[in-house]
Parts: sequence; structure tokens; C-alpha cells
Amino acid sequence: MRRQAEDPPREHQAPGASGPVLSNGLQMSPTAMVDLAARAAEALVRRSEELGREEAWDGEFRDELANKLMQDPPEGGRAPREVLDQAVADILPLALRLDHPRSFGFVPSSPTWPGVVADFLAAGYNINTCNWLVASGASQLECVVIDWFRQWLGYPDTAGGLLTSGGSAASLDGLVAAREAAGYPESGSVYMGDQSHSAHQRAVKIIGIRPEHARLVPSDDAFRIDVGELASLVTRDRAAGVEPIAVCANAGATATGAVDPLEELADFCASEGIWLHVDAAYGGFAVVTEQGKRILRGIERADSIVLDAHKWFFQPYEVGCLMVRDISKLEKPFSIRPDFLQDALWGSGHPNFWDRGLQMSRSARALKIWMSVQTFGMAGFRRAISNGLEFAARAQEYIDKSPVLACTSPASLSVVCFRVDPAGRDIADRDLDEINRQVLARLFWEDPAFISSAMPRGRFSLRLCIVNHNTTWDDVLETLQAAERFGKDALAQY
Ligand SMILES: Cc1ncc(COP(=O)(O)O)c(C=O)c1O
Repeated sequence: MRRQAEDPPREHQAPGASGPVLSNGLQMSPTAMVDLAARAAEALVRRSEELGREEAWDGEFRDELANKLMQDPPEGGRAPREVLDQAVADILPLALRLDHPRSFGFVPSSPTWPGVVADFLAAGYNINTCNWLVASGASQLECVVIDWFRQWLGYPDTAGGLLTSGGSAASLDGLVAAREAAGYPESGSVYMGDQSHSAHQRAVKIIGIRPEHARLVPSDDAFRIDVGELASLVTRDRAAGVEPIAVCANAGATATGAVDPLEELADFCASEGIWLHVDAAYGGFAVVTEQGKRILRGIERADSIVLDAHKWFFQPYEVGCLMVRDISKLEKPFSIRPDFLQDALWGSGHPNFWDRGLQMSRSARALKIWMSVQTFGMAGFRRAISNGLEFAARAQEYIDKSPVLACTSPASLSVVCFRVDPAGRDIADRDLDEINRQVLARLFWEDPAFISSAMPRGRFSLRLCIVNHNTTWDDVLETLQAAERFGKDALAQY
């Protein structure tokens, strides 16, 4: 039975406050709690209504921000509304608005509202999804979401995984499992394509692979890992006494969207007894569409797969995922049972998610995925992901027909790279790089869109990554037209 508080705390005005804060110091009255939450929700809804009319980017220099914000913490509190209003006015808008419909740089993201509300609820309920005893509801929900992912990927019943802070953390956990499966060799090596995300190089450093044994494998003309080159490196390493631990493949390379030859890699890794780790952090959720499933065929043969729901599955940061084909291979290295945690063992069939990765205290990340999928249904997610695939293909068609633009890496998943490079004009690569730098700068300062650059085959290129569910074809088209316009200006001065 719950104890009743005998002396409910008195409400008082915090110094300078207009709303009541309870006298025990760190609690608010129910009215003030609702008022603050409602004001936050209103600010977010207003922001989402205004987002498309604003620029995709805003930011400020350090001195300016330090002048405003670098203050000692106040000894007495301020009015909660005043604090919230300051955050909303002075801090939060100074960011790349990754969920802007014209946010095409890096890998953007556009969270759904139920996902945002889920994070608020999970924080308010103060859930720690470390183990079953501490959070059975959230642990079961994580089992549900992981099982959805398992089925979408075409993984067998033996597979399982965990939600992580993001793709980098998921790859780190995956490579720990790979090293354990390889028998923890003294001198191990990890292979990755030259288009691989820097997260793998970091993970390889953290798991203690010597820098010279983190092998970058050249890619072919389609920016996919060259399996022949990989095979030669593996043979050479084995001859020198170095034991291959894992091959990291891309299912959606960040720069080009390229998908490595997954089936060929699966055959190679199976014949060599090497762990195949697939980085599908950006591209993986394409598997919920028929087209995506075709593009990513073979992913189901990987030993581990990384997904990022805060990218192409429309969730607020942070939620990545590591899926492992045989979950026991993840639990073996991570399951450690100190006496002081002996009470937390519920029993078989009740996973403790701390047994699957680095983190012990973990937020209830599954809630946002579950709430947004329940709210919109998979049809909504499928449509939004299909739009990204379709708009990238249409962008490529537009670029191919443009007299000013040329593709530098063709549309793959929802990424396309291009640059100002007019047909019939013989301009040196160095000059084209400079022209395109100017175009990127003008897009940044003069156009509402935000795009980033990439260097496919060493050529400075503009890159679109189309993953936001609120992006329309007109958003893509007008951004391409702006690039053409700025390109023509730059060419006129050339
Ligand atoms: C292909 C790929 N892998 C891994 C990562 C790293 O993921 P995170 O930022 O969630 O750690 C990214 C980030 O953009 C990515 O695009």
C-alpha cells in the first residue's frame, strides 16, 4: 500500500516566478506542470506549422551565444514559463532543422509527433529499460519492436537485438560480438569499403584493433566494395598471421547511398568463416517497401545488421538498433552477472537488455517506434519511404536532362550526387570543384534548402539525401532549380 504524504508541500513563488513551485525545492504544483507542458506542446506545434516557411538552417557564432548564455546558474529559480520561452527563442532554433522539408544534407530526419510525445512520456515515467525487473512493460515493447525488425529483415527466429543510442553504438556492439565469435584473436583485422561510415573506424579503434589492421577496401565504379580486392586482402592477412574478424558492408553508404553486393559478400564471408556486419543505419528501413527489399536482397544473410530509426524511420533522436542473426552471440560477450545485480534476474525468456550491449541505464526507446507505428500504420511508413526512393530517381532524371548539371553518383536508395558540369564545355576538374563550392555556398546563404557536399571519385559534388516524410517533389525540384540558377551565374563568371 502506498503511503500518503502527511504534510503536502506548500506552494510558494520561486524568486522572480509567476507560477507556483513547491516548497520542497524541486517539485512543481500540478497546475504549473500542466501549464509548462502545454506551453512546450504549443511551441512545438507552432514550430511544425511554421517550419516549411523558414530556412532549413540557422546558427550563430560562439561569442554571440556565449554572451547570451554563459552565466552562472541562478541560486533561486526563475518562472518556468520564462525559462521555457528563453529556450524556445534563443537556443532551440539555432540548429540545422533536420526535419525541414528541404533538409537534404548529411542524413536528415523528420520525427513523427507520436514519437516525440512518446519520448516525453518515457522521460516522465522515468523508465530505465535496463532489465525485466526494472521495466517489464518497456522490455516487452522492445521485444515487440525488435521482432518487427527481425521479420522485416527476413531474419530467422534465432535473431534478436537491442535498441541503441544510434548506428555508431550499434556497430560497436556488433563488432564486439564479431570479435568474440572469432575467438578473440590476438591479432585481428576488420575490413570495410572505402565508402564505409567513419563510425566503423571508431568502433574498430575502441575494440582494440591495430590501426593498420582496419582495412579499407577500394570500391568499384558503382561505389560498392570490390569483393576481389577484399579477397586478396584477406588472403594476404591470413598469410601474415592476422585473423580476419569481420567485414563491414554498406546497405546505404552515407555519401552515395550505394549498397554493397550483399549476396556475394555473404557467400565470401561464409566460405571464409568471417562475420558479416551490415551497416544499414541509413538505408535499412527501405526493406519495408517491395523496391527496398529487392535492393537490399541478401541482408538477411548478415551476422549482424545496424538500423537507425532516427533516420529513415521517422523517430526523434536517439534510436538505433543492432540486430544479430543468432542472439546468443551478442549475449555471450555482454552478459556479466555481478552479485550486486543478482536480484534483477527474472528468469529464462525474460531478456535483460543490459546483457546485449554497452549501456546499462537505457531509456524506453521502443515506445516511440511502437506509438508512431500504431498511430499511422505501416502503410503510412511505407508511403513515406517510397517517396524518398521515388524522389531520388526523379531527381536523377532531372539532372540527366539538365544542360547545366551532371550526376556524379546515380540515385541509390534516396541519395543522389551531382554537380554543375555543363555538357559540351570542357572545364578542368579543379575549376569545376571551385564552381560547385560557390554554388553550395550560395545555396547555403541564399536558398531555404540545406544540402551538403560529397566527393565521389574525388569530384566535389552536391548531395541530396531525401528521407523526410514532409518533403514533396516540389521541394526537391526547386532545390535543383536553385542549383542550376547559381551554377549558371558561376559559369558566366568563369
Ligand atoms: C551509413 C551510416 N552508418 C552509421 C552512421 C552513424 O549513425 P549514428 O549517427 O546514429 O551514430 C550514419 C550516420 O549518418 C550513417 O549514415
